[in-house]
Amino acid sequence: MRVGVLGSRADMAERGDRTILRKIASYEAEPGEVGRVLLLYSGGLDTSVMLKWIQDEYQAEVVALTVNLGQPGEEFEVVRGKALQLGALDCHVVDAREEFAEDYVLPAIKANALYGGGYPLFTALGRPLIAKLAVEYARRSGCDTIAHGCTGKGNDQVRIEASVAALAPELKIIAPVRGWQMGREEEIAYAREHGIPVKGGTETPPYSIDDNLWGRSSEGGAIEDIEEPPREDVFTLVTRPEDAPDEPQLVEIEFERGRPVAIDGERLGLVELLERAGEIGARHGVGIVDHIEDRIVGLKVRDLYEVPAADIVLTAHKELEKLVGTIHQNQFKPQLDSQWAFLVYAGLWHEPLLSDLNAYMDAVNEQVTGAITLKLYKGKVTPVARRSPNALYDPRLAGFGESGGLFSQQASPGFIELWSLQSRMAWAIRNRGREGS
Ligand code: ARG
Repeated sequence: MRVGVLGSRADMAERGDRTILRKIASYEAEPGEVGRVLLLYSGGLDTSVMLKWIQDEYQAEVVALTVNLGQPGEEFEVVRGKALQLGALDCHVVDAREEFAEDYVLPAIKANALYGGGYPLFTALGRPLIAKLAVEYARRSGCDTIAHGCTGKGNDQVRIEASVAALAPELKIIAPVRGWQMGREEEIAYAREHGIPVKGGTETPPYSIDDNLWGRSSEGGAIEDIEEPPREDVFTLVTRPEDAPDEPQLVEIEFERGRPVAIDGERLGLVELLERAGEIGARHGVGIVDHIEDRIVGLKVRDLYEVPAADIVLTAHKELEKLVGTIHQNQFKPQLDSQWAFLVYAGLWHEPLLSDLNAYMDAVNEQVTGAITLKLYKGKVTPVARRSPNALYDPRLAGFGESGGLFSQQASPGFIELWSLQSRMAWAIRNRGREGS
């Protein structure tokens, strides 16, 4: 970019400035290898600058791809128009909501996927699908290289590049933001100089946002000050719990074999159901998470999440799973759940262990049929009622408070004697010679 930030690639090569020319990974493109680029385009500042920058710096053609994963309020036709205006040969807008819900979010639900105790992985789940579509459209449009707008500090570069490199070893990758050393100011200057419209003025977005139908994240800016509570202006999806309705709302989520199929008795397709859950939750202030997170690249970061749909659906799913699972399954599955979440967080969507785990998740979820009623009230989601044909719960057996239960209390002392045998022996040995042993 000959605008005085770095000078053109040719100038840099002459000066021996290798910062952005040096290729590290085998799949990264050398400047000379880039003829036509498939750019993952969001319409934001980074990827808009990139759309122009790639044409100038590589003398390459650019085909843009914008993926709809249910980002609320996004105007995809505007994004497309912007790409074409900036010189893209074409801009494909793909509505991938259905595939995202079915093949990415549903397995996450079956695995109760939560990373670090609070992050339902919406971004991490979206990246492998975006990468898959990038490969598909790159091949279809005769591109030799895929470009993305991830920085060198985050997890998203790992997820996209790991997936692209697995699916399409023949394609090269470039990640200009990682090397171009422009900050926001320089990018805005570049945009001005090249007639790139900058959305909402220059001071506006103090945060880095990523969202889809499974949640929304904000990072950066004032959020990085972990000694301060979140500012009000971060939250645009979920109502402040304080401002949520004073009346609680009961919602029933129904599942068939682990898949959510109805809300309050109304059967809905998965995308619609997740969107509906999101709306109801948002109204009640549900799903705000202030998360200190261990990134896969070593950094700790603070994320502010708004995840109303995930809070509702995961809470219900977990509750139902617990009702139909044995004590052994219920003790064991959370360990595999957390392994599942870690692999997905870490960008290893194509790791075979993940499909091994999916087989286990599917097997357990065969029994997860029934419904959970949740109470939503001022930011909280609480299960308050359950029903399932597969519940391992039988009030006739328990018969608490009456003597008439079918459960044989006479059998209990024999059980206790054997169950506690080793522990009692060990206790005696460790206390040999002490008083009272
Ligand atoms: N911390 C989350 C993750 O690593 C969210 C990242 C959101 N990305 C963004 N560009 N703001 O998945």
